[in-house]
Amino acid sequence: MGSSRSHWEDVYTAKAETAVSWYQRHAVQSLQMIAAAAADRTVPVIDIGGGASTLVDDLLAEGYGDITVLDVAEAALAKSKARLGAAASKVSWIVADITQWKPPRHYRVWHDRAVFHFLTDTPRQDAYIAALEAATEPGATAIMATFALDGPEKCSGLPVQRYSPQTLAARLGRSFRLIDEARETHKTPGGSDQHFSYSVLRRL
Ligand SMILES: C[S@@+](CC[C@H](N)C(=O)[O-])C[C@H]1O[C@@H](n2cnc3c(N)ncnc32)[C@H](O)[C@@H]1O
Repeated sequence: MGSSRSHWEDVYTAKAETAVSWYQRHAVQSLQMIAAAAADRTVPVIDIGGGASTLVDDLLAEGYGDITVLDVAEAALAKSKARLGAAASKVSWIVADITQWKPPRHYRVWHDRAVFHFLTDTPRQDAYIAALEAATEPGATAIMATFALDGPEKCSGLPVQRYSPQTLAARLGRSFRLIDEARETHKTPGGSDQHFSYSVLRRL
């Protein structure tokens, strides 16, 4: 199961954060899309399944003042906290399964790179979408990156559901409108190419 806490705890315990297939030195595409969505850097931004990504480092460096990182694996967040040192105290950290999480507040920007695509069954996808809707108000932006339709069929040894921006928007439903998109060829630390699809969706 894609959300199995033990799977993800094991991954982050066994591997260096720079050795996992999804590692990026900088989440450049994500940063660009977040900057376009949040000119005001005081707005709340949440990274869903942020893992040990350096996105949080770069958001702090760019002056974002209200950052939350959520992940099912405590070991992943521990890596980011250790990397950030004292700056980690400026970030809200949440250990939770997104399909069971009840958002306590609203966020202006929701970011997810390579998390929703692990949800291959309808009930868990619906639970994720319910959390996304509960965490956002009209005008908020969801930035979601999944494997593209021509991307890999598995990630971290788990099956994934691949999307185009259009199929993702259709799956999210009428509360969201696709406003921007991009494709990215991610080079894994092992040297493989993976096609990602990025979608920017406005909450209606
Ligand atoms: C492929 S990694 C991507 C990590 C990060 N977004 C990045 O781009 O580097 C998927 C991440 O989602 C987390 N994850 C998987 N299922 C989850 C769930 N149901 N709820 C919250 N986090 C989850 C994993 O622990 C892992 O950190």
